[in-house]
Amino acid sequence: MDRLIIFDTTLRDGEQSPGASMTREEKVRIARALERMHVDVIEAGFPIASPGDFEAVRSVAEAVRESTVCGLARALERDIDRAGEALQPAERARIHTFIATSPIHMERKLRMTPDQVVEQAVAAVRHARRYTDDVEFSPEDAGRSEVDFLCRIIEAVIDAGAGTINIPDTVGYNLPSQFGELIRTLIERIPNADKAVFSVHCHNDLGLAVANSLSAVLNGARQVECTINGLGERAGNAALEEVVMAVRTRQDVFPCSVDHIDTTQIVPTSRLVSSITGFAVQPNKAIVGANAFAHESGIHQDGVLKSRETYEIMRAEDVGWTANRIVLGKHSGRNAFRTRLKELGYEFDSEEALNEAFARFKELADKKHEIYDEDLQALVTEANLEAVNERIRLVALRVCSETGETPVASVTLTVDGEERQAEEAGSGPVDAAFRAIEAIVESGTELQLYSVNNITSGTDAQGEVTVRLEKAGRIVNGQGADTDIVIASAKAYVNALNKVFSGAEREHPQLGDV
Ligand code: KIV
Ligand code: ZN
Repeated sequence: MDRLIIFDTTLRDGEQSPGASMTREEKVRIARALERMHVDVIEAGFPIASPGDFEAVRSVAEAVRESTVCGLARALERDIDRAGEALQPAERARIHTFIATSPIHMERKLRMTPDQVVEQAVAAVRHARRYTDDVEFSPEDAGRSEVDFLCRIIEAVIDAGAGTINIPDTVGYNLPSQFGELIRTLIERIPNADKAVFSVHCHNDLGLAVANSLSAVLNGARQVECTINGLGERAGNAALEEVVMAVRTRQDVFPCSVDHIDTTQIVPTSRLVSSITGFAVQPNKAIVGANAFAHESGIHQDGVLKSRETYEIMRAEDVGWTANRIVLGKHSGRNAFRTRLKELGYEFDSEEALNEAFARFKELADKKHEIYDEDLQALVTEANLEAVNERIRLVALRVCSETGETPVASVTLTVDGEERQAEEAGSGPVDAAFRAIEAIVESGTELQLYSVNNITSGTDAQGEVTVRLEKAGRIVNGQGADTDIVIASAKAYVNALNKVFSGAEREHPQLGDV
């Protein structure tokens, strides 16, 4: 049976969601999680878009060994050269080049004739082949392009050396039956179609991205481009978790398999992406929503208790939901800590890093008796965040909050090694803490998003906070976790400020010259 190639574009199209900016280090962390899931292709970014995105693609290409790493390029030599350069360290590299083919895009955006578009597409594919044998071509807005023209350009780019033909429904306009039919027609009519893998890339403007992708698979597509949590431009892309689980659950219908995907990595990766981008997952979201496997009604609960299959078509544990398993406690040793993290897919680069994380674990275990897998994951995230906090560090926070009184926060930070302190009042303890931090740092940033999620259940659970700040069009997300949510909030704010002030970090691709 054919294998369905899973092409993840969380780091490229996903990052095009307004506000979902990721630092280079965050992209690498997500890429590693995708690799643990055994995703076939990771589209890491758009190297020409900005120097930061170039560096991010390069870092992902260095870090990932198993999955193919892909870089996006318009059908222009300079874009392709930039992508080729960024992908140089990759074990397996793919260049994905695109040009629009719909009448409206060719006439109004490109101002090019169809002949010119075909010529440029062919030249781009030939040029990309100088860097790698693995070249993908996308006729942008294929969902609104004329079929005859699609056949013509696709035949030409396959002849020029494109091994993957990706059909994007760029504006999410298609319906499942129509899109499936389009894929079948292209495969049937293009004489050299057997020399390429047909792929689809669907946007969710009408809520049909997954349905369209699956319809395409039923009609011959063997690669699906998707993102974790359905992140992506506007209403997003097809959600990876939904595509994978639909194909896996309905093997009676699909003529291809996703057996190579480690589906138990889905929920941890979804959490990672959500915490890095600050895009919360809605509770009723399929597969990864908090309620996806929760049976509320008495009739359902009774049925599930008698026989699980009465109301469950998938097993929660198969997609990585752990039943809040207590894994470690105050008396657990370093070895148990290292072993459990290894089982979760985390390894330490050095003994020093392990010791530091273990010290944090002991600190947490003093506050919280039962440590779950999710707490351990948050601990590793914290360690990664600390590495970013180069200029500003939270030293101490004291908050006074009382009924009928205005909350006051007193904050001590070090800024470039110098200790500074401020006290401010606010409408709530978090507001007071943020005002005190701002009084010290005077960042001039605007708070765009503040969200709190509990990592596990119970009142002693850690709160995980995301803060999104904007300054001069640059958007950054900061994270922090703690059993005290005011401290978690301050940590998240400080983490975001460090990103704002870090000259080394990448500019969001949307601010680049593309
Ligand atoms: O939606 C789209 O058309 C794209 C292409 C670059 C594949 O993202
Ligand atoms: Zn897209």
